[in-house]
Amino acid sequence: MVLYLGIETSCDDTAVALMENEKCLANEIITQDSSMFGGVVPEYASREHMDVLPKLIDSILIRNNVTLHDLSFIAATQGPGLLGSVMVGVQYAKSLAWSLNIPWIGIHHLEGHAIIAKWNSSLEFPFGILLVSGGHTCIILANELSKYEILGSSMDDAVGEMFDKVGRCMGFPNPAGPYMEEYAKKSKSAIEFTIPLKNDDSMNFSFSGLKTAAIRFWDQSDKSEQTKSDICMGLQKTVAKSLESRLENVWKSYNIKSWVFAGGVASNLYIREKITNLCEQNGKNIFIPEPKLCRDNGLMIAYTGYLYYKKGIVSQYNESAIANYKIDHIKFK
Ligand code: KG4
Ligand code: ZN
Repeated sequence: MVLYLGIETSCDDTAVALMENEKCLANEIITQDSSMFGGVVPEYASREHMDVLPKLIDSILIRNNVTLHDLSFIAATQGPGLLGSVMVGVQYAKSLAWSLNIPWIGIHHLEGHAIIAKWNSSLEFPFGILLVSGGHTCIILANELSKYEILGSSMDDAVGEMFDKVGRCMGFPNPAGPYMEEYAKKSKSAIEFTIPLKNDDSMNFSFSGLKTAAIRFWDQSDKSEQTKSDICMGLQKTVAKSLESRLENVWKSYNIKSWVFAGGVASNLYIREKITNLCEQNGKNIFIPEPKLCRDNGLMIAYTGYLYYKKGIVSQYNESAIANYKIDHIKFK
């Protein structure tokens, strides 16, 4: 029996999961309230993790009637992310693991987002990943655990970042993505925005032009609730079309059968459906984690750690947080 923890603190959510082999015993998240700052403030986020993380771990262990001494290893997000935030999780995981004489396993945050799609599913390597989150928008080829190739990525804003920035202008709390999805449902006539890089056959993305167009449209509008909804639906549609066109470009050169759609934006039901339909029409197998596992969570870190642990791969105690950790340079020997 392997009992283990997964810790995720890369941004402003403190998330912890407790698992026993492949079974999830707890997957809890405490989201910081950054509404008074209008966005995440790194120093504030790290202080909150310092306060919340030990209490969250203790309460999960107590409620599951286990102690630290029952753990076989502890996994934590090693990067990328806000340096202070990642460090809180990494240092806490390492200190606990060192004192318990068990391994710690540092996990690449984006690998966690993608690998959770393997949990309770038939997904096997190799597969393609469409990773769309607040910090990243990219297409990755997953050859094996820790072996990734970036095929294309955003040259400016990530999709989630664009949603959050436009959302802030329209008065939504941060992160704005979930509010955008709700507002889009009330749209009567979606605003038509230009699809980014429409006639470009690369695998890269660009969302800053769309962001500027949406903000300009809002500034010059009647600023009604209906206009908000129509902008949100217009953005969702345009993002879906942009993601679809990039996948189609990839498929011209790469014959990858299985695809994962992951990251916080993949929890959006409208965009999920569009990507699912496109994959099915093109004979691809599509795997999308359930919405709450698309957003940052501890389970994705715990489960990815478990796959490494089963292969006998663990981290060194002298490793630390890597703020700009690249997925094509994962550090496992
Ligand atoms: O993966 P994630 O939880 O954190 C990062 O690693 O960045 O993604 C967060 C991003 C935020 O920008 C948020 O606005 C967006 O995902 N998001 C959504 C939805 N839920 C979260 N975007 C669109 N629709 C949603 N339902
Ligand atoms: Zn994330």
